[in-house]
Amino acid sequence: MSALSTKNLLGIQDITQEDIHLIFKTAKNFKEVINRSIKKVPSLRDITVANIFFENSTRTKISFELAEKRLSADIVNFNSGSSSVKKGETLIDTVNNILAMKVDIVVMRHPVPGAAKFLSRHIDASIINAGDGTHEHPSQALLDAFTLQEKLGDLKHKKILIVGDITHSRVALSNIYCLQKLGAKIRVCGPPNLIPNHLETLGVDISYNLKESLAWCDAANVLRIQLERQHDKYFPTLREYSLQYGINKKIMDELNKDIIIMHPGPINRGVEITSQVADSSESVILDQVENGVAIRMAILYLLSTQ
Ligand code: CP
Repeated sequence: MSALSTKNLLGIQDITQEDIHLIFKTAKNFKEVINRSIKKVPSLRDITVANIFFENSTRTKISFELAEKRLSADIVNFNSGSSSVKKGETLIDTVNNILAMKVDIVVMRHPVPGAAKFLSRHIDASIINAGDGTHEHPSQALLDAFTLQEKLGDLKHKKILIVGDITHSRVALSNIYCLQKLGAKIRVCGPPNLIPNHLETLGVDISYNLKESLAWCDAANVLRIQLERQHDKYFPTLREYSLQYGINKKIMDELNKDIIIMHPGPINRGVEITSQVADSSESVILDQVENGVAIRMAILYLLSTQ
């Protein structure tokens, strides 16, 4: 297979296992390219990409922009905070104005779940969802699974733990869809009120016991507590959360086995993970960031050839 089954990347739920393998194969080639002394290829010459971010981002925004530059695309960047959205302009009007300037691909982050899908119904350009509220973050899940595959090989039957604030995490949902499509077993672990019951219907194992879950897994993806999305109080204090669900060196030492530690960032050091663990040899957090550029180059390239 040499083409994706879709013209947009709205979520991992919508793509096939073959799409994921094609993205990984393409990303592997681009990873070689970005490690050469000349890191740029002409693959997206004459393609214009708009990065439109209605929510804060460091990694995703920089990573997409770098991927576009490495592919020789023309880029326009839009931040809602300094735009006419502040004057009441709607999402469709904003994007249609950008598209009138002949944009081919839109990379969008938005706080509302489903915003990328909504947009895809109204415009012709390819849409890449760079995170839509608590729904999906497909490029993050692809770079996470790609990193895991580099470290563990075939992910079939591998045991992957997702720890933390599952309810408010788009990374959790996209990781579940992606890793299940690759045959991995998934367990989520966190406080009961931060794990939605409906996850059981997705075939995900649920646990509230961190030590037992870490002992079970081959890799743990540790998530940030998303205070900005929590409208109720889910635990008394961050210290209390950290005592029950934070990953520290003592817990890791007591495991008596090596596991891979991941985190999508941004990290709340000392809350969900200590610096000693985040910066340890078991952590692949910076490999995830490096792989993010190659994965996003692959997504952009494959969508541009649709
Ligand atoms: N992982 C991630 O989405 O980070 P940013 O919010 O910084 O883009």
